[in-house]
Amino acid sequence: MKQRRATAKRKAGKNESALLAELRGIGKSYDGGVTALRDISFSVRRGEFLSLLGASGCGKTTLLRILAGLLPSDTGTIRWQDGARPGETGFVFQEPALMPWASVAANIRLPLRLLGIDDRAAALRTREALAQAGLEKFGDAFPHELSGGMKMRASLARALIVKPKLLLMDEPFAALDEIARFKFNDELLSLWREANCTVLFVTHSVFEAAYLSTRTLVLSPRPGTIAEEVRFLPAAGGVNTQFRTSAAYASRVRKLSEALERAQ
Ligand SMILES: Nc1ncnc2c1ncn2[C@@H]1O[C@H](COP(=O)(O)OP(=O)(O)OP(=O)(O)O)[C@@H](O)[C@H]1O
Ligand SMILES: [Mg+2]
Repeated sequence: MKQRRATAKRKAGKNESALLAELRGIGKSYDGGVTALRDISFSVRRGEFLSLLGASGCGKTTLLRILAGLLPSDTGTIRWQDGARPGETGFVFQEPALMPWASVAANIRLPLRLLGIDDRAAALRTREALAQAGLEKFGDAFPHELSGGMKMRASLARALIVKPKLLLMDEPFAALDEIARFKFNDELLSLWREANCTVLFVTHSVFEAAYLSTRTLVLSPRPGTIAEEVRFLPAAGGVNTQFRTSAAYASRVRKLSEALERAQ
């Protein structure tokens, strides 16, 4: 009996350590009287690719901003597990949100400046980040001289330069054409696998959620609540381009479309 209890405790401990954050009863209303979110509860587990799927205006950005510590919630709590703090998150906004007056290199370097990393180390890491983003020739350029895809690449590089444990992404590829979006999806999956980080990805595209996620939370229309959870085996996408035309992918898309339909 004692042993069984000990085993149960160990198991619980193991599950607990897989948690990155736990949200309970999060609600938010804006001054104008709009209730954006109501009673949102879910956990974020280490290493997962978690998507939040919902219609426009259901409160996805609001939820991500609350998680990033950029906006206070009215109700509820967020419990971060040891070693994970909002400061260790990277945020990719709906718009690339680059500072127009600063060079691409200065934009990418900003989080290091905010963390007080010394100039030499910051310069080296910025050079590496520029190269990784395929922007090595554009460090001295200004954001208006970049294409939409390049701006998004710079914005991603800026989020990744702090090697975040949690990457919060708000419809990052919505403004890109389909070819670029597919490419970014694959790059993101490779990055996620290599960096071993956790991704929380906001989208209104069932296709994108089906391609990328290991788990998807389907939100109801405003006020956003969690209507359903859909789990997939670790992402099969990315590594092989055939996945997009496979029956497995089509079945994921169908599952998510049906869940989204039920949530309306
Ligand atoms: N700063 C604000 N002040 C007042 N209302 C706001 C503010 N930001 C968002 N809202 C309202 O809260 C609701 C949820 O907005 P939010 O931006 O979180 O939705 P979303 O799911 O991200 O939508 P989209 O998919 O279009 O980006 C909307 O009705 C919006 O009008
Ligand atoms: Mg939004």
